[in-house]
Amino acid sequence: MTDSVAIGETRLAVRGLQKDYALGAEPVRVLTGLDLSVRAGEMVAIMGPSGAGKTTLLNCIAGLDEVDAGEIEVAGQAMSGIAENRRTHVRREAIGMVFQFFNLIPTLNVRENVALPLQILRRRSSETAERVAAMIDRVGLARRAEHFPFQLSGGEMQLVSIARALVHEPPLLLADEPTGNVNPAAGRRIMDLLISLTREQGTAVVMVTHSPEHAAWADRICFLKDGVIANEFRHPESGRHQADDLKHIYERLLDLEI
Ligand SMILES: Nc1ncnc2c1ncn2[C@@H]1O[C@H](COP(=O)(O)OP(=O)(O)OP(=O)(O)O)[C@@H](O)[C@H]1O
Ligand SMILES: [Mg+2]
Repeated sequence: MTDSVAIGETRLAVRGLQKDYALGAEPVRVLTGLDLSVRAGEMVAIMGPSGAGKTTLLNCIAGLDEVDAGEIEVAGQAMSGIAENRRTHVRREAIGMVFQFFNLIPTLNVRENVALPLQILRRRSSETAERVAAMIDRVGLARRAEHFPFQLSGGEMQLVSIARALVHEPPLLLADEPTGNVNPAAGRRIMDLLISLTREQGTAVVMVTHSPEHAAWADRICFLKDGVIANEFRHPESGRHQADDLKHIYERLLDLEI
């Protein structure tokens, strides 16, 4: 990140995470004992080859998938070894999610899409309307509030999904290739907003990306390979985005054959 930001308590703790998928008769171990810890106000980028298990990792953290071994804690609450309805509860309260393909509800307009997390949490409606309008304004879409997803560009849809992911100020944000389907200018705007909003809210962020340029904005880059975090890159000067970071990131990607 460009300037120093208070890094706070641990918001995500993943220990010894194992995840298997049955591929025909053969179980395939995708995650083989992965450890990851992220603190409030910290942004961690995850890079790794296609099929390495990056989306699998986010799905396990979000409690969308059951883990085979290991532990996950989100904002001090267990996300592993608990029933699915309990995982859903923790996810709604404590996690915001942004996906590569936006995942907006096509039959709801921008305002209604952004309001969803607050409605699910049964927040008071007077509070909700104000908060939703403020978030839509913050991502620069005030004039599009009544529009439907099909009337927006990919970049605009992603801004809506960022507003929706952060409207309830979750302690943890998970983003899976948030800039994977937009043009470079829109990608830049998405990164700017992701960083400024999560800094303001002190959110812990885990962002999967294939873009070294976007990964370079994170406080730490974790390289996922062979089911674990095989390597980690931190900016040499803490909290500073260095011009030659990109060179180092490309070197690590080449070394790890990512
Ligand atoms: N529901 C599933 N059932 C069976 N196998 C799965 C399932 N989901 C993922 N896999 C397998 O797990 C492995 C990891 O998949 P994952 O989607 O996590 O990769 P990724 O790192 O996100 O890749 P990409 O960069 O292409 O998005 C792949 O081999 C994939 O085929
Ligand atoms: Mg993926």
